[in-house]
Amino acid sequence: MFYKTLLKPFLFQLDAEKAHDATCRAAKKVDQSKVLASLTDSLYNFQSPLLSQSFWGHTFRNPVGLAAGFDKNGCLVNAMETLGMGFVEVGSVTAQASCGNPKPRAFRLPKDQALINRMGLNNDGAQTVVKRLQNTTFNIPLGINIAKTHNPNIMGSKAIEDYIFSYREAQKIADYITLNISCPNTTEGKTFEDPEVLNNLLSAIQKEKGINMVPTLVKFSPDLGHPQLEELVNVCETHHIDGYVACNTSSSRRKLKTKAAQLDEIGRGGLSGAPLSSRSIRTIRWIREIAGNRKPIIGVGGINSFETALEMMKAGANLLQVYTGLVYEGPALVKRINRKFADYLEQHDLASIGEMR
Ligand SMILES: Cc1cc2nc3c(=O)[nH]c(=O)nc-3n(C[C@H](O)[C@H](O)[C@H](O)COP(=O)(O)O)c2cc1C
Repeated sequence: MFYKTLLKPFLFQLDAEKAHDATCRAAKKVDQSKVLASLTDSLYNFQSPLLSQSFWGHTFRNPVGLAAGFDKNGCLVNAMETLGMGFVEVGSVTAQASCGNPKPRAFRLPKDQALINRMGLNNDGAQTVVKRLQNTTFNIPLGINIAKTHNPNIMGSKAIEDYIFSYREAQKIADYITLNISCPNTTEGKTFEDPEVLNNLLSAIQKEKGINMVPTLVKFSPDLGHPQLEELVNVCETHHIDGYVACNTSSSRRKLKTKAAQLDEIGRGGLSGAPLSSRSIRTIRWIREIAGNRKPIIGVGGINSFETALEMMKAGANLLQVYTGLVYEGPALVKRINRKFADYLEQHDLASIGEMR
């Protein structure tokens, strides 16, 4: 209530990125004050043993985590733990620090409960972010999402070396690493969604992985058709990828309520939020069909209610992530979903969320 009636009207008067920065500053304040942290904890942090699951040797106290892009620089992991998140995926981080695309680069579509962004992989660089995380204490699993540096001149074997640099850094601290092959915001397009290029990348990653064995996931775009996805999942399976994240933002503008003129004015960028949920759910189903049931899937895209979260789990997701839903629903979304999952499990006589699917 506090968020929707007081905070959201204020934040929505600001440019979307400025509102995000203000939110991050507030979250940092929570982190630095014991009083605010314990208040936040009592308001938002809902846990239940029914919600706990183990993946890749780590315990996830509940299935709802923070999606990549919200905490690009690893500054908010503690605050997200206080807010009741089950895990956090930091990034995308890249080998070289980048200030991203010119502003404005994030836009709200309130009629669609959606956002469009072309941030352009702004981040402090893998080394700095990893050092920051090494100096932070937290008790929830940490994912690090890595991508290629936002520089069109880095291509071919240089692009793979660039990725490997971030991979080595991430291995120092991550509980799992996500390869963002689908970020549509780079000027040269979706380079790693070409099966041959993905194969080259995963061959290089597999050599690195031999040393430390940090579970490695691949994140897909929701714009892939079944044949393309099948080809990419098969490449991933050949290289023993440990799980999937579905999905990233979409380039499509189909079936939006926002007027075409407004969309034209905003221009290019990745669409996130409610319009994505059906495509993410479809992609999760397809991955299950193609790869079977052995690998965990993190479902993300348009989760703004318990109902969408439940549908995603039923489609085959084991864990979930939220971003745009937090912008429209506020931080209480995480507690609402987790509490309703716990109620649902009790009503259906299920001993744990792992039994739900
Ligand atoms: C402003 C913004 C920045 C994002 N940055 C990244 C990123 O750096 N790396 C990434 O893999 N995904 C990024 N994402 C995508 C989200 O992780 C998520 O996959 C997508 O937004 C769909 O989830 P949602 O509908 O809950 O927002 C970003 C999303 C938004 C809205």
